[in-house]
Order: sequence, then C-alpha cells, then structure tokens
Amino acid sequence: MINKGYKTFYIKTFGCQMNLHDSEKISTILSLSGFTRTNRPSHADLIIYNTCCVRENAENKFYGQVQTLKMLKESRPGLKIAIGGCLAQSEGERILSKFDHVDLVFGTGNYMDILSLLSEVEHLGQGLAKTDVSSAQSDVLATDRENQKKSWVTISTGCNNFCTYCIVPYVRGPEISRPMDEIISEVKRLAEEGVLEITLLGQNVNSYGSDLYDGPRFHELLERLDVISGIRRIRFTTSHPKDFDDHIIKAMSGSKKICKHIHLPLQSGSDRILMMMGRRYLRGDYLKIIESINSNLPGCNITTDIMVGFPGEGEDDFLETLELVERARFGNAFTFIYSPRKGTKAFDMEVNSTDEVVLDRFNRLLNLQNDMGLQLNEMMVGDSFEVLVDGFSKKDGAILTGRTACNRVVNFPGPSDLINQFTRVKIEEARSWSLKGRVIETR
Ligand code: SAH
Ligand code: SF4
Ligand code: F3S
Repeated sequence: MINKGYKTFYIKTFGCQMNLHDSEKISTILSLSGFTRTNRPSHADLIIYNTCCVRENAENKFYGQVQTLKMLKESRPGLKIAIGGCLAQSEGERILSKFDHVDLVFGTGNYMDILSLLSEVEHLGQGLAKTDVSSAQSDVLATDRENQKKSWVTISTGCNNFCTYCIVPYVRGPEISRPMDEIISEVKRLAEEGVLEITLLGQNVNSYGSDLYDGPRFHELLERLDVISGIRRIRFTTSHPKDFDDHIIKAMSGSKKICKHIHLPLQSGSDRILMMMGRRYLRGDYLKIIESINSNLPGCNITTDIMVGFPGEGEDDFLETLELVERARFGNAFTFIYSPRKGTKAFDMEVNSTDEVVLDRFNRLLNLQNDMGLQLNEMMVGDSFEVLVDGFSKKDGAILTGRTACNRVVNFPGPSDLINQFTRVKIEEARSWSLKGRVIETR
C-alpha cells in the first residue's frame, strides 16, 4: 500500500504533447487514489518530472532542474522524487546513480504502474528504476486535464520510422495503434463530459491502423469520429508526408468538424538531406501534398517542423529549404538546430558546418518564416472567425486568448464568462505568431 504520509503531488512536464498527455494520465491515476495536486513543489510530498530527450537542450533543462530538488529533499526528508518519460526511459538506473535524491525512475511504458512502483520504493527503502516496457498502451481516461473542454486522444504510441536523427522510436518503442472501437468509445465518453475539441495524438497519425488486424485507415477513423455528437472540433498531430494521402484531404473537405489545420513536418527542403534523414519522401512529393491541400481545402493552415545543421547540410541544401518555405507558405514553423542523439544513425555522421554557420542559417530561416507568417496573418485582417476561448492571456490578464479552427492564436478583450465558449472574433491586427481582434457576437 502507498504510505498515506505523502498525499500532495507536483508534476512538471518537459517535451511534447505525448508527455503532456501522459502527465494528465499520471495525475488522474494519483488523484483517483487520493492524492491532491499542487502547483508549488515546496508543498509537495511527491514530485514527478516527466522528461524529454529529443534534443540536448531538453535534457539539459531537466538536469539543471533536478539538481535544485536536492535542497528541497534535504529540507523535507519524507519527499519522494520520481522521474518518468523519455529521458528516464533512455537513462534508467543512470539517473539514480547521478542523483541520489531521486527515488524512482519509470519509463514511458510504466507510468500506469506509478502507484505500485511508489509502494515498492517505500518497501525497498532505496531507489528503484523500472523501464522494462518499451511501448505503453493505457485506457486511463485523463480527467485531470488542463482544459476541461479540450482533450487529447492517443490513437497510436511509438514510432517505426527511425528517421536517422531521432531518438523517439528508441524511447517510445514500436508503433502500436489503439483499436478503433476503443478510440471511438473514449471520444464518446469525452463528448458526454462536455468536451468540445479533441486532438488525436500519434508520432505519425497517418499510418494509424497499419498494425491492426483489419487494417483500418486514418481517414476511416476520422470519418467515424466525425459523426459523434457533441464534439465540435477534431484535430490531429503529427502527420508524416510519406503517409499523407488524398483520402485524408477528402475526409477533411467533407467535414465541418475536422479543423483545417495540418501539421506536416518538412525537416529539410533538400532531397539529399531528406534521404540522409531517412524521411522517405522528396521535396517534390512534399510540394504535391501542399498543392493538393491548397486546391481541395481552401484556407487550410499548414504548419511544419524544420531542422538546420543536419550532418552534410551545405549552403545549397539550406537554400533549397528557404525556397520551399517561400513556396509552401507555412502559417507557422517550429525550427530546430540539429542535436546529435546517441544511439541514432546520424550520431556517427559528421557535422560539417561550424556552430556560427548553423546559427546564421537558423536565424535566416526564422526571419523568413516570421515574414511569411506575418503575410498570411495580415490576409486575415478584416475577416471574422469562430474562436474557442482558452482563458486569459498569460502576458495580459485582461486579454482573452483562444484559437481559430485553423489553429491560429487570437487575442482579444472580453469577459471571463467567454472562457471555454465559442465566440466570433473580428481580426483587427496581425503579428507573425498571433492575431488581435474584437468580439462581434457571442454564441
Ligand atoms: N513525430 C513527429 C515529431 C517528432 S519530434 C514527426 O515525425 O515530425 C518533433 C520535432 O523535433 C521533429 O519534427 C524534428 O524537427 C525535431 N527533432 C527531432 N529530433 C531532433 C534532433 N535530434 N535534433 C533537432 N531536432 C530534432
Ligand atoms: Fe522521430 Fe521520424 Fe518518428 Fe517523427 S517520424 S518520431 S521524427 S522517427
Ligand atoms: Fe516527446 Fe520528447 Fe519524448 S519530444 S516523445 S517527450 S523525447
């Protein structure tokens, strides 16, 4: 049994939506067993860090912060510290030997067992590392959500793609799709609870179902979810260009609920680099998808991830990336500097550019994308959009913030009773990353 002495927990999440959603599930498991969540680590009896190792800086953030917990533990001897997530999966016992104030290390496939693992730690009276399940499937319905009207829904875990730079397949295991009926009943339950927006989650949602017995396809899942009443918006992420097809575009164009936003990571605009990355598409393939989206889904917002400084990237390759960014007109791009990850294929490839060259490319890419983002956003000025209101802006407590169906952030003045509601906002001003507007009608 759990020691009833530690009853308050604090959880901090590093990394992507997968980790955020896993943290919600962990919080739900703990809350259901009588723990209370606190947002002040100094008040907690149990501190959990859910970690990421996709790039070195994600790791360093964790290493910096876990160190500071040592003093807290010294002042609170009963405090238990648990480290989960992707870095925990890859480092396992090494975290225990580096940080003797850590009590539990649990992998990406072990979080469902958090209660019994905590009991085991209590029983053992020493640190424990458990990272033996390589891919997690759980049917915990995450009720401890940041936003009561929005929910993530895992449709697959893990990844089979092994892009040569990426650690994710090693720490999240092979791709496993959840059976379609299980996903549908989860979404129905969410709808009954009043959830208005769902985001389907997977490292590569487009290959959903390829491992299942009757091989349902992603567009079929979309079509089945589209008819569930109560759900007003359906989103999905992440799409992979090699598996993105016209069936998905068709499902989107035939639906009022599936949001016109596609996050389609490009990574590079150079065929040579794409091949070295093991992405299994070429720039021409990518451009064809963009063309098809633009002609069949007018107004669809395409966003992307791009990496600079991959081993072997020359100026010519980079110019091809810039050229593609200009042509594709992304609403938004998350840009990264390549970070070598031990255990991946690219780790042994030589990085040929200096840090200065890579940083210069990074800044040129960022500037171009900021211009492109601003241009696209400026085209929205004067139009009005339905916005699902998330809450007050962190920067300005008098300003509400929400998102359009095409996933653009809109800030506008308004009363708190609009939170969690749909409201119509007229856009008055554009920025590179957001829009400003005013409410014109409330539903
Ligand atoms: N499954 C998704 C997301 C993977 S991680 C996909 O396939 O796109 C999110 C982004 O992090 C990736 O798209 C990539 O741009 C970036 N990334 C992954 N590994 C990286 C590395 N080693 N260095 C820098 N960026 C990386
Ligand atoms: Fe990583 Fe590639 Fe899988 Fe995305 S598709 S998680 S980038 S290996
Ligand atoms: Fe996500 Fe980071 Fe893991 S990006 S899948 S939390 S390595």
